[in-house]
Amino acid sequence: MSGAETVQVVLGSWDELAERAAPIRFRVFVDEQGVPMEMELDEFDPLSCHALALLGEHVVGTGRLLPDGHIGRMAVDAEWRGQGVGAALLGALIDEAGRRHVSVLALSAQTHALGFYTRFGFVPVGSEYEEAGLPHQAMERRLVAD
Ligand SMILES: CC(C)(COP(=O)(O)OP(=O)(O)OC[C@H]1O[C@@H](n2cnc3c(N)ncnc32)[C@H](O)[C@@H]1OP(=O)(O)O)[C@@H](O)C(=O)NCCC(=O)NCCS
Repeated sequence: MSGAETVQVVLGSWDELAERAAPIRFRVFVDEQGVPMEMELDEFDPLSCHALALLGEHVVGTGRLLPDGHIGRMAVDAEWRGQGVGAALLGALIDEAGRRHVSVLALSAQTHALGFYTRFGFVPVGSEYEEAGLPHQAMERRLVAD
């Protein structure tokens, strides 16, 4: 990343962001990870708040927050990883959950990404399982104190 460019995150509805978010999800989850194409976009997309990460003129990542407090579909295009884009996306979705008074954030992490989510205070819940042919682990982070 050049010093002049910082990650910007835009939040919006599926109507507003699908045209730019969906191609990233297809590249990352379908082309790269082999998730079946028909599983990638789902009925939760129109209900979710979506985040889009921009680096200069490049659209580099996306993620979503479901109304029930689940974060999902975190994807950064391969060439832009390791530069804080995922962190900016996740931070923006956690902030949005806070504005919505979500008490417990949940997500289904691919096991290779456990360390990424752990950095943001998520903890594993239960045992590993398989989803879309890939090993996953449920994780949670409490936002509101008991
Ligand atoms: C997981 C993903 C979103 C991370 O995005 P990213 O832009 O590479 O992450 P960042 O550069 O913002 O990393 C933030 C921090 O997490 C760490 N991190 C990133 N990926 C990690 C991983 N897989 N395991 C452990 N730590 C990781 C980074 O080292 C960094 O740590 P630091 O703050 O100490 O420097 C990205 O790798 C991705 O899109 N992967 C493919 C799709 C995928 O598997 N998504 C997750 C589905 S659950």
